[in-house]
Order: sequence, then structure tokens, then C-alpha cells
Amino acid sequence: MKIFLDTANLSEIREAASWGVLDGITTNPSLVSKEGRDFKELIREICSIVDGPVSAEVVAVTKNEIVEEGLELAKIHRNIVVKVPLIVEGLKAVKVLSAKGIKVNVTLCFSANQALLAAKAGAAYISPFIGRLDDISHDGMAVVGDIKTIYQNYGYSTQILTASIRNPLHVLEAAKMGSHVATMPFKVLEQIVKHPLTDMGLKRFLSDWDKFLKEKESFLPPKDGSALRLAEKAHGVS
Ligand code: G3P
Repeated sequence: MKIFLDTANLSEIREAASWGVLDGITTNPSLVSKEGRDFKELIREICSIVDGPVSAEVVAVTKNEIVEEGLELAKIHRNIVVKVPLIVEGLKAVKVLSAKGIKVNVTLCFSANQALLAAKAGAAYISPFIGRLDDISHDGMAVVGDIKTIYQNYGYSTQILTASIRNPLHVLEAAKMGSHVATMPFKVLEQIVKHPLTDMGLKRFLSDWDKFLKEKESFLPPKDGSALRLAEKAHGVS
């Protein structure tokens, strides 16, 4: 499963990239607005850090405007994936953009039927928002499972990008379900790398090794040559 970070924060992106596990980035207008930077400049900088798909979202809501905005965003970098909302006008735009060879991530997906339509329109990625579904007592991961079944039934190549991930269990479930991608906040990435038994185990290994080195030191002759002088004296060498 590919791991994407759901953020527009450059220090989080740099840090995750240095771990060697980062495959791509998703952003949205809410995340970008938090950074207080010029949108295109920020996206360009993200693309210079991560060599993988970077989703940049349109804010237009009519077909022609979405297409126009999408074409502009796609010019920023070859790794740009244009993110389009799952509305009728959005689907129309997906058809046009994908026919031009531009990769589109269809976002704000909350049902498997919506995902079917996105695939038919030519989406490269579909983003089911599982956390927001869980928030209203719907099983978000069940939707991911249904999408997987439908896409497999008909051989759609649209990749499932599980989004709105809130905790480590969401990542685990997405991976078990066979989601192609999971996009998560940096906080969740930090949570999934940690395990208390790893920390305890490492502490024990290091203290045992330290003890071993100290014991080994007591078997060795002192480095100042005093042991040699004692041995020479004992054998009558002057
Ligand atoms: O990028 C879209 C999605 O992941 C948003 O997540 O936590 O705002 O529901 P959230």
C-alpha cells in the first residue's frame, strides 16, 4: 500500500520524506489555507520535496471552470494530480481532463455508487472519506470494501485512496482491505511507527551491551603498560 501524507505543511513533508516511506501527498483547500502561502508556489515546493503524486484541489464548481483550473494546476509539475469534487460538474470535468491525459483524484466520496461513477468518468484515484463517515455512525471502511469489490468486478483501474484517516486502526484496515493508497495526517504516521515493546526492547539490548563492554574492560590489561612491567618483574627481566 502506498503511503501519502495529507498535509500542505513543508516541515511535516520533509520529515516524512526523510523516513523513506513517503509515496505522495494529498492537499485540500482547508490544509493549504492553514499554511498562509501562495497556493501554486507551495504546491511547487511540495513537488520539489516528494517525487510522487501530489494532489492539488480545484475550487471551481462548474465543468468549464474546473477544467480550466485543472489545466493550470497540471502545468505546475509533472507529478500533479488534479483533485476534483464528486459532483455532477466535477464528473463532467473528470471526463475532459482524463481524456487530455491529466490524472484526476475524485474527492469527497462517501458511497460506493459515487465511486463507480468516478471510475466511469476516468478518475485515476477515488478518495473515500472514511473518518467523516465514521463521525456520523457510518462504517467508512465498509465503503472502501464495497468500492474494492465493484472495481474488481468490472476491472476498473481507478486506485482507491483511503482518505480522512484519523487513527492507526484506519491505516491497518485500509491495508488489510487492499486499498491502493492511504493518505494520513503526519500525527497518524508518527503513531504507526511507534510501539512501546520496541522502545523497551531497544533499551534492554543497549543496557545489556553496555554491561558486557564494562565487564570485558575488566578482563583486559591496563593500557598504560603497568601489567607488562609487573610480568617482567615476576620473570626477573630488568
Ligand atoms: O484530504 C482530504 C481528507 O483526508 C480530509 O480529512 O480529517 O478533514 O476529514 P478530514
